[in-house]
Amino acid sequence: MNLAQPVLLDARIARKRYAERTVLADVALHVKRGEIVCLVGPSGCGKSTLLRIVAGLERDYRGSVTLDGVPLDGPSPRIGVIFQEPRLLPWLTVADNVGFAAGRRGGRDPRVAQLLSEVQLSAAAAALPSALSGGMAQRAAIARGLFGEPEVLLLDEPFSAVDAMTRMHLQALLLDVVARHGTSAIVVTHDLDEALYLGDRVLMLAADPGRLDGELAVGLPRPRDRRDPELARLRARLFDAFQRFHEHSAATAR
Ligand SMILES: Nc1ncnc2c1ncn2[C@@H]1O[C@H](COP(=O)(O)OP(=O)(O)OP(=O)(O)O)[C@@H](O)[C@H]1O
Ligand SMILES: [Mg+2]
Repeated sequence: MNLAQPVLLDARIARKRYAERTVLADVALHVKRGEIVCLVGPSGCGKSTLLRIVAGLERDYRGSVTLDGVPLDGPSPRIGVIFQEPRLLPWLTVADNVGFAAGRRGGRDPRVAQLLSEVQLSAAAAALPSALSGGMAQRAAIARGLFGEPEVLLLDEPFSAVDAMTRMHLQALLLDVVARHGTSAIVVTHDLDEALYLGDRVLMLAADPGRLDGELAVGLPRPRDRRDPELARLRARLFDAFQRFHEHSAATAR
């Protein structure tokens, strides 16, 4: 990715509370056009909350989210969201799910056929979601997420419900489609290998309150070779940072 690109999405969250509890404090996150940023951090540290704020789904916080410098004040078609579960509507065909944003006959939109081909689901266009495997359903969700041609795609642990082989396939497929569409992405994951395979940068969040606790730049071109020794070296660094964090949390909890 081109580092000279200007910032596309800029989120500055001074504070996010749920009742009396501060969940996020002083989190600044930006994404450039075409950039993929991965977020890793312990369970409950606020990753999903951060993504929901960026998606415009959570409005009750102190701070701002801007796209090309313009404040966002709610969900925008310029930002697409893909959740952990595919969330397909069971009574609509795969094609109609993908084209849902275009209305009742959305599945007939030519872009649906194109996207289904990109995620290798053309043969399942007329099927109902109940006939899909988990990996197929998540591919349909990726196609639906891209249908509105968002500039930024937000993915919250998108592949955590599928087996390891399917997961690797979906990661490669995601890279392929976002590169094709020039889409930026923020990916929340618990999987350090996934973060290093996908991300231009990996941001580490710490908990209580959720805050940024480190950043690792992955200066390797994509697609990456999973056996690249440089990835193994970066993984060791990420792992060490995690260990330090957990030791620190355990010590402060004592
Ligand atoms: N709607 C809500 N009301 C009250 N508290 C909430 C709400 N949503 C999340 N929280 C709390 O905010 C904190 C952050 O939650 P969040 O779901 O963002 O964490 P996460 O990092 O995504 O965790 P995980 O890795 O388990 O998905 C948690 O302590 C959670 O209990
Ligand atoms: Mg979460």
